[in-house]
Amino acid sequence: MSGDSAFEDINEVKADMDHIYNQSDPRAYFHELNKLDYAIPDTAKPIFQKLIGHLQQRHNDTVHVLDLGCSYGINAAILKHDLSMDELYEHWGQKKMTGATSQEVVAYNQKFFADIDTSLDIEVIGLDQAENAIAFGEESGLLDEGLAVNLETEPLSALAKEKLAPVDLVMSTGCVGYLTEKSFDRLLPAVTEGQQPWIANFVLRLFPFDAIEKSLDKWGYVTEKLEGQTFFQRDFASDDEQEQVLEQLCDRGVDPSGKEAEGHFLAEFYLSRPMKDVAEVPIERLLEA
Ligand SMILES: C[S@@+](CC[C@H](N)C(=O)[O-])C[C@H]1O[C@@H](n2cnc3c(N)ncnc32)[C@H](O)[C@@H]1O
Repeated sequence: MSGDSAFEDINEVKADMDHIYNQSDPRAYFHELNKLDYAIPDTAKPIFQKLIGHLQQRHNDTVHVLDLGCSYGINAAILKHDLSMDELYEHWGQKKMTGATSQEVVAYNQKFFADIDTSLDIEVIGLDQAENAIAFGEESGLLDEGLAVNLETEPLSALAKEKLAPVDLVMSTGCVGYLTEKSFDRLLPAVTEGQQPWIANFVLRLFPFDAIEKSLDKWGYVTEKLEGQTFFQRDFASDDEQEQVLEQLCDRGVDPSGKEAEGHFLAEFYLSRPMKDVAEVPIERLLEA
């Protein structure tokens, strides 16, 4: 899926989830990922909330977010409606979902999300290559705007570029690795058209971030990694997956003991901001409680 050969090799060791990414609704996505305790949107949530809080103070206005690899609008659901992955797993696992048509599921979700107060003043543009997932995100009201595009292989349309100009925060969970620096090279001219948004990526320790960091550097961004913290992403799908991941990590000189060796994927947090913002408030201070 990734156009980068190094990432392609790494992706080989991960369980293939492509079959759940582009369905007409997220039932299969939640069913499968619940088995692996997929939780990165949850573990990332407090960091995103802090970043949004800072940007809200700065602009005193709605924060415009671009969620890369947004899937069905998962981060939007969690952030806009202050939900947890457990609540979403419960919601999607309900009996009434089984056997419902996709239209019924959409209608049910429109009501479910409309009835929960919006907790953050954000607008979310979701970008994903999975057009059915994007359509669901838009129809259910989770995404304010959806862009179905594979940034690894296609450029952004003129219309998409226009929609991306007001973005204040670009974020991603579970997406770098599918996306390489090629996607960021295509994205950066559009999102920096009006201003320089902050770029916040949760990245599995399996994937090196240096090529993306280098691309962002060309656009005047300084990338900081939040040191000393890892974020639970999901359990390994099999012993075989774990074994291969440990091997890859060791090959890259990343020590998995006490971490991935315990049975789960871990992500790290990278924040890329314009030089002057980093100089003003470094990442640790920005994110302290
Ligand atoms: C593991 S899911 C993460 C979804 C969501 N961010 C979350 O954490 O729940 C990865 C997502 O990346 C998307 N994706 C994979 N390759 C992509 C590409 N080249 N361009 C855009 N999206 C892509 C998939 O369709 C999928 O929705």
